[in-house]
Amino acid sequence: MSQHAFGAATLLDTKDPMGLRSSAPLLDAWIRDMETDRSPFQIPGHKGRTDLTGAIVDGDIPVLPGNHPHRISPSLILEAEALAAALWGASLCRFGVNGSSGSNHAAVMAVAGHGDKVIVSRTLHKSVLVGLVYAGAIPIWVRPEIDPLTGLPSHLPVETLEKALQAHPDAKAVLIGEPSYVGTMSNVPALALLTHSYGIPLVVDAAWAAHFGFHPELPEHPLKQGADIVVTSAHKTLPSYSQASFVLVRDEFVDLDRFNKMFDATITTSMSGRILASIDAARALLARHGEELIDPIIQATARGRARLMEHGIGVIDGENIDPLKLVILLSTVGADGNQVEAELLAQNIDLEMANRDMIIPMITFADTPARINDLVDRIIDSVERHRGELRPISISASFSIEPEVVVSPREAFFSTTETVSAAQAVGRVCAEMICPYPPGVPVLSTGERITQAALDALFAARDSGVRIAFVADPTLSTIKVLPL
Ligand SMILES: Cc1ncc(COP(=O)(O)O)c(C=O)c1O
Repeated sequence: MSQHAFGAATLLDTKDPMGLRSSAPLLDAWIRDMETDRSPFQIPGHKGRTDLTGAIVDGDIPVLPGNHPHRISPSLILEAEALAAALWGASLCRFGVNGSSGSNHAAVMAVAGHGDKVIVSRTLHKSVLVGLVYAGAIPIWVRPEIDPLTGLPSHLPVETLEKALQAHPDAKAVLIGEPSYVGTMSNVPALALLTHSYGIPLVVDAAWAAHFGFHPELPEHPLKQGADIVVTSAHKTLPSYSQASFVLVRDEFVDLDRFNKMFDATITTSMSGRILASIDAARALLARHGEELIDPIIQATARGRARLMEHGIGVIDGENIDPLKLVILLSTVGADGNQVEAELLAQNIDLEMANRDMIIPMITFADTPARINDLVDRIIDSVERHRGELRPISISASFSIEPEVVVSPREAFFSTTETVSAAQAVGRVCAEMICPYPPGVPVLSTGERITQAALDALFAARDSGVRIAFVADPTLSTIKVLPL
């Protein structure tokens, strides 16, 4: 079940297996460049030669600086972005090459500036917090509900947002993450209506939702549900290159010029034409074949879920979830997800995430039903070998701590710092973003009061094998704090 099971065809014979180039201008331009013997006196420095560093640079075609019809150039990117905007019904689409991370930075700066308040769901990814640092905005945190059966976030209640908006009617935007990392969804239409009643935009980090809306069993796309800015990773749920992302914007509550200015400020001037063309290709594929490709994978994932449940293994199921997100809950059978992951790794199977209580094999419509069935067999085998005493549901650190903002994320981020022992850090103001990864949701962020509860939750995550990311000392023996 290696990666090569997909077929180890060469670049030459797989340029356009689904016949997409006629409706995908960047893909068409990429193929034409690949087929043309050019003499590039421009970057990238490899000049297309594969006899130096090898096939690693094959197909790496840059964006030409000037506008050229039928070449990967700014005017053709605009054309491809317009096709994407039309498909999703947006006023504007921008393709990015720094993942949803880069797009989130731009999105936050597009809606908030220095000292502006924004209402933010605390389950948001670290990149949104970096966006707050860039913008100098002040977060008003709201917490999604935790499902007591799973210990994981279920949805952001409309009443929670309403209270936050009533308390902070001067907020400039609402930022939420939909679906959550574990595939659960809030009532986005109701949240959008409420947000709009305050005359401000709803920004949705939909990094995991690029496929939404392309099958009747999938949730509707957040843009169609009323969101104003939707950030998406094309590389997560669509067959695009790593780093590929796109943002969809509606102009009713968002100034498009300001959005473009922020987006342009955050992207490299040397974008990879290949990454951009892969977004264009995925858009054309979704438009033409989305439903037929997604259907068998939804059915296979549903069968997998049912089989896991027959073995008493918990899964996230029900309404308002992404049916392609297979979240397997191991406290229900007393198995340790780290051990299950190790066994799968030994069989050359890589998971999207694993910790003691949960594993998530990432499923997309690039999988096949046979591969999903095989994966589920192997997971059931492994879990059976590691069955143990049932554990109570524990709420992950990322979803349980109530943050207390003492100074703005930006002020803390750029402040001088002191390094103190974890015990001495209690009561001090945090100068780091401390995130168990995945999911990359900070337990403590820059400018927040460090509490014993937050540290205990982080220690528990660390001790159960979770990587603590983005900190100077990942053992958490010491923590960086603001000077007194
Ligand atoms: C909700 C969410 N937003 C944004 C990101 C960042 O996406 P990318 O890796 O495309 O930069 C992630 C990454 O996992 C994520 O889970």
